[in-house]
Amino acid sequence: MQGRSLVIARSTADVLEGRDRALAMELVNGVLRWYWKLDFLLNQFLQKPLRNKEQEVKMLLLMALYELTELSTPDYAVVNEAVSASKALGKQWAKALINGVLRNFIRDQEVVLKKMQPNQEAFYSHPYWLIALLKQDWPEHWQAILEANNQRPPLWLRVNAAQNKTQSYQTMLEVQGLVSSTHPFAAQALKLEQGVDVTSLPGFDQGLVSVQDAGAQLAAGLLDVHKGQRVLDLCAAPGGKTCHVLELEPDIEMVAVELEESRMVRVRENLDRLNLKAELIVADASDASWWDGNQFDRIMVDAPCSSTGVIRRHPDIKTLRRKQDIAALAEVQQKILQQVWQMLKPGGKLLYVTCSVLRQENEAQITGLLATHKDVVVLDLIIKGSAEWGVACKHGRQLLPGENDNDGFYFCCLSKLAE
Ligand SMILES: C[S@@+](CC[C@H](N)C(=O)[O-])C[C@H]1O[C@@H](n2cnc3c(N)ncnc32)[C@H](O)[C@@H]1O
Repeated sequence: MQGRSLVIARSTADVLEGRDRALAMELVNGVLRWYWKLDFLLNQFLQKPLRNKEQEVKMLLLMALYELTELSTPDYAVVNEAVSASKALGKQWAKALINGVLRNFIRDQEVVLKKMQPNQEAFYSHPYWLIALLKQDWPEHWQAILEANNQRPPLWLRVNAAQNKTQSYQTMLEVQGLVSSTHPFAAQALKLEQGVDVTSLPGFDQGLVSVQDAGAQLAAGLLDVHKGQRVLDLCAAPGGKTCHVLELEPDIEMVAVELEESRMVRVRENLDRLNLKAELIVADASDASWWDGNQFDRIMVDAPCSSTGVIRRHPDIKTLRRKQDIAALAEVQQKILQQVWQMLKPGGKLLYVTCSVLRQENEAQITGLLATHKDVVVLDLIIKGSAEWGVACKHGRQLLPGENDNDGFYFCCLSKLAE
């Protein structure tokens, strides 16, 4: 559990459990996902905007509008509960306002939803700067990306290839009454058709299975690791890709580098649960002070990025990210690539990965490295049994969010020419 989920879990721990906590999570994620739409709708029914100190009332109204537009809660129950919640919050003055706004919305919803359509920020529920960037980068796909970002994310599992075949684990799930489906080119991926507490999955504690999006699962195979190799995983926490690489080939020397000590704890926990071994170094990947000078056969750079490919899983990204973050992230990404290139053996492979869909963070980074080094070769990205996957970019390939129900990732594999 991390970030937003952890905050919700902690803040509701003493007061909510089971289904009530799940509903609280649904309401928080739903309001974050549909914020721009709900805010537009709310403003249609307010005489004047609510003052800053009345944010609790505003959030209560947004939650109620979310329930009215996206959930099947009966209208009268939504209105009654929102009014009682205003009392519980000590905001009695807002009772009439809440009652009026919600009843007016229920009455006029068809008209206001139609009025919203030309407003792209509200219609797609994304900040306009991001819509504009997606239009620029993906003129044929931007609408599909925005729509995929607003879906609820599925639960993807990664079967531990060192312990089991994907089909055998699928049968184990079936025995427990859990239905799952495979992915066309992520060999260890299974999508669960229903939400479950993952710790109750067969063999979870013994490391038979982990949670990881199917798109993220492509990285380990693309790195093409072989027995005896020295492998570097940069920006490793929480260790999903580190562990997957080791599951595919445990007989390697794995070094995992991560900036945040607190996040490195998660890498250790995942390695321990899966009974895998790696050397862990807490360090900044944009400098080489931690490096002992021994080059690596394989390097994975899972660069810090805008996370614009995983918005459906983390809807708060739409609220937290600013346009100016993209240039700052691009600068760090280039710094990391420039530093790490010297650490790759001639003939070795480096896989650059992001969970971004923005070209500035993806192919432009490869262009930057090519411009400064003569020994960089861009390789084809081949997945066994799959002729075509993702979208070909100038360099590398982009997996778009929603495609085969996976999140959005960019991949580019580079090799270093021998001197
Ligand atoms: C996309 S996440 C990595 C996900 C991870 N590879 C996995 O598969 O589980 C990016 C990680 O990079 C770390 N990070 C950010 N800047 C870094 C830097 N300059 N050096 C090393 N790690 C960094 C972040 O703390 C974060 O844990």
